[in-house]
Amino acid sequence: MSDVVSAPHSELERLVTEVLEVTAEYKLKDGSRIPVVAAGGIFDGEDIARFLKLGASGVQMGSRFVCTDECDASLEFKNEYINAKPEDIVVLQSPVKMPLRVIRNDFVRKIQNGASSNFECRYHCLFTCEPDKTTYCIAKTLLNAQRGNFESGFAPCGANAHRIDKIVPVNALINELVTETEEALALNPL
Ligand SMILES: Cc1cc2nc3c(=O)[nH]c(=O)nc-3n(C[C@H](O)[C@H](O)[C@H](O)COP(=O)(O)O)c2cc1C
Repeated sequence: MSDVVSAPHSELERLVTEVLEVTAEYKLKDGSRIPVVAAGGIFDGEDIARFLKLGASGVQMGSRFVCTDECDASLEFKNEYINAKPEDIVVLQSPVKMPLRVIRNDFVRKIQNGASSNFECRYHCLFTCEPDKTTYCIAKTLLNAQRGNFESGFAPCGANAHRIDKIVPVNALINELVTETEEALALNPL
């Protein structure tokens, strides 16, 4: 499987271009085009402007909003992002068979080395794992991380999470992104 989300923007640009080409063949009932939203590694206003210029209707951003005051993840979770180096960001195959990008810590190393812990399935995820063959419970692991327990947890993240260096109020982040996008579009209008 090609790892689109970890790839440089040129890879995401290629994907978005392809999706725009395919969706251009269809129209919604009111005659408008199917909106295409770009996501995966989009970091700043320059990125947003680039994907809008390409024809995307919008972008979805996850990682940048983790390190905001308003995000309900623990401080420990946010600090995983702030302290991450590029080489700490790895892609695991999750127990529910999805690729899952995370920040490597000792718990991830244990998983990568095949360590297992018995668990009773309490969550019954929509896509379930096979609890008797799985080395850890993904639901519990993510809940642990959200609460700040990184002995038995890891932080999921986007490919550019290592570029985040501080926790900010969400309105400051939005203002920064809007200003950067407007500046980029002023230089190179839609
Ligand atoms: C903390 C966190 C949790 C996420 N959880 C899920 C998830 O449960 N399912 C999913 O499809 N995507 C999930 N994502 C991916 C986002 O939906 C989004 O598409 C992606 O993170 C965008 O890339 P970015 O984080 O580089 O902005 C998650 C992202 C983050 C940062």
